[in-house]
Amino acid sequence: MALLSLFAPCPRGLEEPLAAELKSLGGTDVALLPGGVQFRGTIELSYRVNLWSRIASRVLLQVKRAEYQNEQDLYDLARSVRWGGWFAPDQTLRVDVTAIRSPLRSLEFATLRVKDAICDRFRDEVGRRPTVDTRFPEIRVSVFLTQDSATLYLDTSGEPLFKRGYRTDSVEAPLRENLAAGILALTGWAPEEVLFDPMCGSGTFLIEAALIAHGIAPGANRAFGFERLIGFEPRQWERLLTEAKDLRRPAAQPSIYGSDRSEQAVTATLNSLHGLGLEASVKVSKMNALHAEAPATAGILVSNPPYGVRIGEESELLTYFPQLGNTLKQRFAGWRCYFLTDAMNFPGLIRLRESRRTPLFNGAIECRLFEFRMVTGSVKKGPSPAER
Ligand SMILES: C[S@@+](CC[C@H](N)C(=O)[O-])C[C@H]1O[C@@H](n2cnc3c(N)ncnc32)[C@H](O)[C@@H]1O
Repeated sequence: MALLSLFAPCPRGLEEPLAAELKSLGGTDVALLPGGVQFRGTIELSYRVNLWSRIASRVLLQVKRAEYQNEQDLYDLARSVRWGGWFAPDQTLRVDVTAIRSPLRSLEFATLRVKDAICDRFRDEVGRRPTVDTRFPEIRVSVFLTQDSATLYLDTSGEPLFKRGYRTDSVEAPLRENLAAGILALTGWAPEEVLFDPMCGSGTFLIEAALIAHGIAPGANRAFGFERLIGFEPRQWERLLTEAKDLRRPAAQPSIYGSDRSEQAVTATLNSLHGLGLEASVKVSKMNALHAEAPATAGILVSNPPYGVRIGEESELLTYFPQLGNTLKQRFAGWRCYFLTDAMNFPGLIRLRESRRTPLFNGAIECRLFEFRMVTGSVKKGPSPAER
């Protein structure tokens, strides 16, 4: 079977765990780039990665790559592709262009030129052309521009892969599912270990952990772009889905715990777990994190605390965070604790010294994942930066 060039974008900062995941799924020639991972594999591998990757945002299939200088080069490049081998003119289309240091003045115009080239190619060959649908397109073409190279991709995912289809309630600022899964990978958590999120919101960390513990494929309950491409092999896909069902396993004792002080957040978490049939695997309760007790003598605490703390800003969080630090110190000795936050001074705010800080992007927001290894007496002496 022919090997394809594939690219999986991901939240920036998760390239390494994504590369490890792609290798374990069977990807070859795996190479890290900023914001994603390049790899090679068969069309079947592209199905498999869509079904199983917990960290990728999409799986893009490279159809052409060349140097370019201007919009005309881009048009010529797009027109040189035999799109009719990939999809039909009666399918709807969306083109997206992203760029790093491109000399082009307008990415909107570049998008139009690529769309025109695809449509002109179809019109030349069959006398009909696809129509554009930016909201629910059947086919998505992605273009990635650097200073001098243009790469055209077909999007095999369709809707981004973080849309797993398990969210039932809308809550404020939920983490993207693939960011949460990538953070779990960065913490090194394994299903045998206890996991706790004391500010769980809609429960993204807990649900992603439960999916991992049960060996459930994150894409088992959704549709993909590749199903709409010419040459789609339904039998191959059915085989992968059956294999995924067979790999589901019952988790042992529930060792995943979550809480939030908001009733609405607890309900949202429980509803999603219920929809997945996983409510017995995660213990969720309504609680202020400051009253949390460690559910075991050791484990991994991972959380995404409320945002919006700047040095010197008057905020209830400025009193909450030092208290949270005290709770960790008094009741979580023996635990490894991870917090994803955009507050770069977070260790100062909770008065703990971090053992690791990993840059990550939550959408466009630059964040850090702070690691604190809790041993007795790990609270900093002296005033925190927040108090100075
Ligand atoms: C940024 S959200 C977490 C989002 C979550 N990771 C998700 O994916 O949905 C922060 C959460 O902290 C909760 N929270 C704030 N203060 C709290 C406290 N003192 N105790 C427990 N939960 C708290 C809020 O109710 C909110 O759900």
